[in-house]
Amino acid sequence: MLVSPKWLHTLVKAIINLMRYETIHGLQIPKIGFGTWRIGNDLFSDERSRLALRSALEMGYTHFDTAEVYAAGRAEELLGRAIHEMKVPRTALFITSKVSPDHLKYADVLRCCENSLRRLGMDYLDLYLIHWPRVGMKLEETFQALNKLVQDGKVRHLGVSNFNLKLLKNAAALSETPLLTNQVSYSVPDRTYVENGVLEYCQQNDILLTAYTPINHRMTRSNKTLQTIAQAHAVTSPQIALAWLVTQPRVITIPMSFNPQHQAENLQAADIVLDEAEMKLLDRLF
Ligand SMILES: NC(=O)c1ccc[n+]([C@@H]2O[C@H](COP(=O)([O-])OP(=O)(O)OC[C@H]3O[C@@H](n4cnc5c(N)ncnc54)[C@H](OP(=O)(O)O)[C@@H]3O)[C@@H](O)[C@H]2O)c1
Repeated sequence: MLVSPKWLHTLVKAIINLMRYETIHGLQIPKIGFGTWRIGNDLFSDERSRLALRSALEMGYTHFDTAEVYAAGRAEELLGRAIHEMKVPRTALFITSKVSPDHLKYADVLRCCENSLRRLGMDYLDLYLIHWPRVGMKLEETFQALNKLVQDGKVRHLGVSNFNLKLLKNAAALSETPLLTNQVSYSVPDRTYVENGVLEYCQQNDILLTAYTPINHRMTRSNKTLQTIAQAHAVTSPQIALAWLVTQPRVITIPMSFNPQHQAENLQAADIVLDEAEMKLLDRLF
């Protein structure tokens, strides 16, 4: 049977799409996004941050993670400015920001979201997260405000960050729209949110686990098993660490780099196909 080039092209496109995007609640979210912690942190000049954001946008990152606390709002400002300068259409982007644990009261949440939108130069966020839980917080009050932001069209989806299993279940019950993510630390050497049951709960309840700090461990570069698998694929150890994350159901990740070569490598990690034996080896590495 002859396969038409058009059919083959469609098939390849569908497979690439499946590898690069997570489909959830009718959305397609890039599995590898770009973190902005440390953007805007340089004391005397924004040039390094400006160049990092521009190169990330140029090479095709469309999913960005930021927060009101990153460089006291400067990360949001610089991200918004770079998007504006590069004339990237808002609809092509998926933008996450986060409200600080100091601002979880009803009026504060509404005000802080407005401030994030102003700094970003946008009229809505794709995703808004509670950055950290706080002892004594009134989650019901916070979610009243978050639900209002969704009703008002300021925010498309809600999520949390650094929530343990009990808090995550509470948050999922209080959100009027399906809770989209719990953003937590997860990497080859850091299995905290596997061990505490959060990953399994996310996978069983259609909640994304967004893995932060997926690379920034010394062992990600020096581990022999990672290096061997990396050599077999002609890629780097950090790329294997990212591929291992996004191969898992409902796991996406947001690495950060100022280095354009690293940025490109991180984006390309979604295209790496790890076989079952490699996945098992990495699963059992720690
Ligand atoms: N929700 C939360 O509480 C929370 C906490 C922490 C982070 N986050 C989010 O997660 C994002 C990522 O986490 P992170 O910044 O802590 O750590 P990360 O992305 O794991 O690591 C960043 C470090 O790894 C290096 N790197 C990146 N890609 C590399 C590559 N391909 N090869 C070699 N080195 C590479 C970077 O250096 P170069 O610049 O030299 O490449 C940088 O030093 C943050 O930016 C932030 O948006 C969220």
